[in-house]
Amino acid sequence: LDSTVTLNNGVKMPQLGLGVWKVNNTGASQSVQWALKHGYKAIDTAKQYGNEAGVGEGLQKGLADNGLKREDIFLTTKIFNGDQGYQSVLDNFEGQLKRLQTDYVDLLLIHWPVNGTYLETWRALETIYKEGKARAIGVSNFNIARLSDILKICSIKPAVNQMEFHPLCQEEDIKNFCDDNNIYLEAWSPLGGGAVLGDSRLKTIADKYNKSVAQVILRWDLQRDIITIPKSVHEARITQNADIYDFELNDDDIEEINGLDVEKRSLWYGDFSWSGNPEGYVDSVEVWDDTD
Ligand code: A2P
Repeated sequence: LDSTVTLNNGVKMPQLGLGVWKVNNTGASQSVQWALKHGYKAIDTAKQYGNEAGVGEGLQKGLADNGLKREDIFLTTKIFNGDQGYQSVLDNFEGQLKRLQTDYVDLLLIHWPVNGTYLETWRALETIYKEGKARAIGVSNFNIARLSDILKICSIKPAVNQMEFHPLCQEEDIKNFCDDNNIYLEAWSPLGGGAVLGDSRLKTIADKYNKSVAQVILRWDLQRDIITIPKSVHEARITQNADIYDFELNDDDIEEINGLDVEKRSLWYGDFSWSGNPEGYVDSVEVWDDTD
């Protein structure tokens, strides 16, 4: 649980953290407290999730209850689509820090590549980074073309690209591009939002190791050198998802899971609070690429 990866600016980031997408403030506060109690060192939220205040509260309580300091925890949040643009990002970020009850975040991501603004937004992230209010900066849901755009104009390279990633959705091209450019791929919905957990092929592998399917998937993330942030609002599952350091998948099993990819990105869930969703929204990445 203390295992870290080293980002391209030298900052160390825990490879496993807690995700809180689709959790309300009360739930987020509780989940963060459970996570800290059970040894998690990283939390991932976003303004768009509407639970930064809950995360901030859970963090304060969790730090106090477990004798931890702020710097023991790696906190990620993301720029809201509606806040994109240079000055607007700088102005609105202060509110995020306030809700999170901290004066810096460890990783700040552009949540989505909103067309026409993400390059300006990147410049704002560089300013925030230089001011010391984010220890690392990166992006989320960026395909190769969009990542290349950032790489062309940046003075600081993105450290991370957070994408939907799980056995049915492995984004092989993006993963290779990230590897080539020293950018870490971070998996959102590593358990496929729960949808992958019933897969019988994964169950067969899990039984061999006496582990759950969730544990096998998260272990596969670690061995594939991917940062992973499973979400759960249940204490037992939060504990279970971190109990993945006492076994190792063999090469055949890694290969078998690699072979499950069907390039299946999830459908849009319909709770995306930014009003700019184009009609017929079905794909969490491509639509953003098509709205030029
Ligand atoms: P819950 O929050 O009720 O525990 P992802 O991180 O891929 O989005 O997946 C999260 C989904 O998987 C949630 O629905 C979560 O439900 C469920 N989940 C998380 N961990 C486990 C686990 N160890 N076993 C079964 N379901 C899990």
